[in-house]
Amino acid sequence: MIPHILIGKGVLERQKADFVALPIAMGTLGTDPQFDRLNQAVDGELRALAQQAEFAGRADQVFECTTLGRLPQQRILLVGTGTDDAREEARMRNFAAVAVRHGANSGALRLALALPPKLAVEQLRAVAEGVILGAYRFTKYLTSERSPKRQIETVILCGLPKETVSAKRAIEVGQKIGQAVTLCRDAVNEPSNVMTPERFAHTASNIARRHGFRAKVLDARGIDRAGMALLSAVGRGSRNEPRFVHLTYVPKSRPKKKIVFLGKGLTFDSGGLCIKPAAGMDEMKSDMAGAAAVLGVMDAIGALTPPVEVHGLFVLAENMPDGNAYRPGDVFGSLDGKTVEIINTDAEGRLALADGLAYASKLRPDVIIDAATLTGASMVALGKSCSAYFTADEGWSSRFKLAAQMAGESFWQMPLLAELRDQLKSDVADLKHTGDRFGGAITAAMFLKEFVGDAPWIHCDIAGPVLADRPKNMYPKGATGHPVLTFIRLLEALG
Ligand code: BES
Ligand code: MN
Ligand code: ZN
Repeated sequence: MIPHILIGKGVLERQKADFVALPIAMGTLGTDPQFDRLNQAVDGELRALAQQAEFAGRADQVFECTTLGRLPQQRILLVGTGTDDAREEARMRNFAAVAVRHGANSGALRLALALPPKLAVEQLRAVAEGVILGAYRFTKYLTSERSPKRQIETVILCGLPKETVSAKRAIEVGQKIGQAVTLCRDAVNEPSNVMTPERFAHTASNIARRHGFRAKVLDARGIDRAGMALLSAVGRGSRNEPRFVHLTYVPKSRPKKKIVFLGKGLTFDSGGLCIKPAAGMDEMKSDMAGAAAVLGVMDAIGALTPPVEVHGLFVLAENMPDGNAYRPGDVFGSLDGKTVEIINTDAEGRLALADGLAYASKLRPDVIIDAATLTGASMVALGKSCSAYFTADEGWSSRFKLAAQMAGESFWQMPLLAELRDQLKSDVADLKHTGDRFGGAITAAMFLKEFVGDAPWIHCDIAGPVLADRPKNMYPKGATGHPVLTFIRLLEALG
């Protein structure tokens, strides 16, 4: 159940709720009228208590205290929204998510959010997104006393001038986008024994049916017949056979742009014959997070109906060691025609994507965007919270950067270094698929670049941020749903 979102009527001090939450920007405690009113209601103690607890309004910082029964709300929650360099939209989304998550963890059923006056509709939409994102938990496999007992039922948005049509619409769209992100999170959190390539393909077809998209699904034979020999090679060591899925959304009006999203969908990555160490191997159930993000985007499209033609491509496989598995030293063809020498079977993602990119470029799109948990090296470069993106097109780079900022997701551009291309030279085939250890995220991107043709292309290496070790801002522990919001913002900027 997702919380109901209501627009509060009357002043904040009249809303009955378990919690009232107020956003506080860094260093602004006590400077806004809503805070003053709450502060007065508790005899001016709120300010002193928050200061004593060293609440400064840092992003993700919270302070909670009782209202002593002097307000219709039991408790006051202050949520830090950080400094001005983050966009207002992202700060509002984080505020709502943190408030709802905190309230839910304390067993609240009804929450009032105090919104700043003159909130723009985009920010209101972001608040609705944040409510859904903050309420999310993956509880499917928790039984008896572990199953959740209480969850937030109602979130009241206070301080909006009045209930206009555009406000209602913004909230509705925000909820749908929030749900698209949680759909992505669910797919990533789902264990690999359940979320097989076949199951993923079913999930994608269901979404297509729900929204009226065209859907094409290729099974192992279909993949071979289509000439996607690299995807086939990656998947051949598993009894859970690979799939390729192509969803198409065509707008009612003449499309302004054609865009392809491609996701890496390794439903499990054991490393294959070049098997990974046991420690941390469980995290490789999330090696389909790129594909899950594309699924989230396609789901959001059903709600947004943008004037853009959108293709969602999914390369789905399980990388396993087996008598039939592909080996280091093997040579395979590809959809593009180039031959590839296999070096390390754990560098499977770029192989699956290579065929996906060749397929994408045949669609002659205005831009191809891929998302992949591709390299540990991207995490060495940027840490666990920031994704790398690569593109040779500066126009697309700045559009992408802006979209990420509005989404409140962390991305940093890395270079496609031509001088590292030499590492991919093979003696027996057109290309080998890995280089040396240094610059590993870049050589992976350089390998992919061989398969995109001339279409403008953005490659996102999202290995770090798709899983979080602890909750932070709009991201919960576990699957975060990164980079669904960024992709949605980018898509909207094209319409
Ligand atoms: N799926 C992994 C990358 C990864 C590692 C994602 C850790 C998230 C957390 C990818 O398939 C992989 O194994 N990459 C190798 C490439 C290497 C063998 C060239 C890597 O990064 O170690
Ligand atoms: Mn791997
Ligand atoms: Zn992988």
